[in-house]
Amino acid sequence: MKNLLHKKTIEAGYKFTYFDIIDSTNDVAFEIAQQLEKLPVEYKHWVLAKKQEQGRGRRGRTWQSPVGNLYTSLLLFNESKENIGVILNFIAGVSLIDTIKYFKKLYNISTLDFSLKWPNDVIINNKKLSGILLEVRKINSKHDIYILGIGVNIKTKVDVMAYETAYLQEFGFKCDAESFFEMLSLYWMNNYELFKNEGKAAIYKKWLTNNSFIGNNITVKTETDIIEGIFEGIDDNFNCLLRIKDNKLITLNTGDILLKLNLKTP
Ligand code: BTN
Repeated sequence: MKNLLHKKTIEAGYKFTYFDIIDSTNDVAFEIAQQLEKLPVEYKHWVLAKKQEQGRGRRGRTWQSPVGNLYTSLLLFNESKENIGVILNFIAGVSLIDTIKYFKKLYNISTLDFSLKWPNDVIINNKKLSGILLEVRKINSKHDIYILGIGVNIKTKVDVMAYETAYLQEFGFKCDAESFFEMLSLYWMNNYELFKNEGKAAIYKKWLTNNSFIGNNITVKTETDIIEGIFEGIDDNFNCLLRIKDNKLITLNTGDILLKLNLKTP
């Protein structure tokens, strides 16, 4: 398979590996990291698969991965001591939005209701289009590596018990998983550079301008509770700010905003 990365990212040193069928691109990315003899100052390697047999979602869920949708993971190592795990998630979220906007314009799609949903799903017409699974793993006693798994429904609707899903081609997007990946690799690189040059505030700002949940009443499911409140945005560490009863502002660092209108009854 030819290198499907955008050529600017190849020039910038990003690596690429493709598989027809694998268990999970996140696991392969980790194996690639383990095989590296020496870690350079910065290492960036995209893994792409046509199909996954053991696709994983957040919080132990399964991610159905039939042929036609996008399954990719970015293996990232950066020698800096700063923990960049959380910000990588948000860089991926805004990069997905940039890619969708690019194809929306290319295919002249006029009306489309899409938004980021905390922490980092893309929602179209109140249905889930994509998901991100960030894993931080130890590569040796001193260093962590980041594996940023991204799944986007492009060609096929997946049937999930908990929520409704959407896929891009149903809205007139004529792109396939490979062309979407090429542009995603470019926008990812641009946003990662934006973060390195201007800091996390630039990503924070971009994320907020692409979020239509702000000021709305939402329900968040955490490990232990279901909490209702007004979504007031995110704090400096990208935690969810929720105004609950008695006007109390709480901060959540993990959870799922439930899509009320399209919730399926199991
Ligand atoms: C979520 O639950 O919303 C996150 C889903 C992440 C799925 C992607 S597909 C590519 C990568 N490999 C995996 O096994 N999972 C992620």
